[in-house]
Amino acid sequence: MTEKKATLTIEGKEPIELPMYSGTKGPDVVDVRGLLKHGVFTYDPGFMSTASCESQITFIDGNKGILLHRGYPIEELADNADYLETCYLLLYGDLPNAEQKAKFNHSIMHHTMVHQQIHTFFNGFRRDSHPMAIMVAVVGALAAFYHDSLDINDQNHREITAHRLISKMPTIAAMVYKYSIGQPFAYPRNDLDYASNFLHMMFSNPCEEYKVNPVMAAAMDKIFILHADHEQNASTSTVRLTGSTGANPFACISAGIAALWGPAHGGANEAVLSMLEEIGDESNIEAFIERAKDKNDPFRLMGFGHRVYKNYDPRAKVMKAHADEVLKELGQVNDPLLKIAMKLEKIALEDEYFVQKKLYPNVDFYSGILLRAMGIPTSMFTVIFALGRTAGWIAHWKEMIDGDYRIGRPRQLYTGATERQYPKK
Ligand code: CMC
Repeated sequence: MTEKKATLTIEGKEPIELPMYSGTKGPDVVDVRGLLKHGVFTYDPGFMSTASCESQITFIDGNKGILLHRGYPIEELADNADYLETCYLLLYGDLPNAEQKAKFNHSIMHHTMVHQQIHTFFNGFRRDSHPMAIMVAVVGALAAFYHDSLDINDQNHREITAHRLISKMPTIAAMVYKYSIGQPFAYPRNDLDYASNFLHMMFSNPCEEYKVNPVMAAAMDKIFILHADHEQNASTSTVRLTGSTGANPFACISAGIAALWGPAHGGANEAVLSMLEEIGDESNIEAFIERAKDKNDPFRLMGFGHRVYKNYDPRAKVMKAHADEVLKELGQVNDPLLKIAMKLEKIALEDEYFVQKKLYPNVDFYSGILLRAMGIPTSMFTVIFALGRTAGWIAHWKEMIDGDYRIGRPRQLYTGATERQYPKK
């Protein structure tokens, strides 16, 4: 990192010199840590222009629509890598060679089972619980099963926990689905690849043979790759903040799942489908577009817009191509919801409001359509996002714990009451 200087001038004070750093890509940053001793804080609600940490995992150029994991463009990873290779890349910084890949895959595919006692948790939930509510609880509860490896200062403990989380997320996610439909849990099959095993646990039942459709497995693997990481988004920042307290990694990932659930973040894929269903017919699209533009209406076009991308979300492009492929394979190209989605996208992309505000479709716009075509129920969409994102969360958690970190503790601009006395009785 090269060092430059910035000078901050505050009325009535001597100019304050602040160090600046340049990363390998992206805007330079001004190091404001020394400001405290001058009696001022910076103010940036929503982190509009604040780098919360230094990281080497993922880079996004939002204006150009570029997403790189450890330097590799997402399009190239989606075309050439599989999800577990992407996980390895995120965790360890480089693509694995054949031996490393085989070892990593073996480790991930041999930690897939959850403790039998976890099965009994499920009975405590209503069958109609939202799957994300169960995910938050069960993933957090994994800490109760692995106290032998919860020392975050032990490199081996961190390693085994990272593998366990990536291994067990599909198992837990599929259990949530099976519980919701009243079917027995399907045990993982370690002879299958990661995505096929997930589909097996979701859709097989003891009464008949289930054969994984390779097109579906390939599409699911792509979905996982496209969700694997996205630098310092709300859920990843939540994982880092939680981790900065020394909390165990299962608690951190559970916190990340909770943050992802919101409709402005991962919950958007579910919200896109609900929106398309509410629109119901192509003739209603214009009215919904008008609602999205109306400042007095809280309705937003779900699956559109992004804090960082002011261009097409590169993940959305790849997702769209795969959605087209899978819909063709499954004979669903005439799906009425897909038609509404395509028309909605076209209208929005040409509308002055969306063009001027640079609101493009994001990854969630197409992932919902693809997941629905694959027979995944809407309420499971965000769970699948969480499953894919676990690799990114745990990579960021590891990067933070491996390095030099302090507890994350923001300050505030206080505008409440000044000191006053409790009324005398
Ligand atoms: N529909 C209509 N108007 C929008 C939309 C939308 N989807 N998104 C942003 N705007 C408008 C917003 O009203 C604001 O207008 P103005 O400047 O006149 O006040 C302007 O565009 C900027 O929006 P913002 O809310 O200040 O932007 P943000 O960076 O704080 O929010 C966002 C980003 C993703 C939360 C937002 O675009 C949104 O709510 N989109 C819909 C939800 C969605 O699809 N989320 C998934 C994000 S991608 C997956 C992930 O990373 O989780």
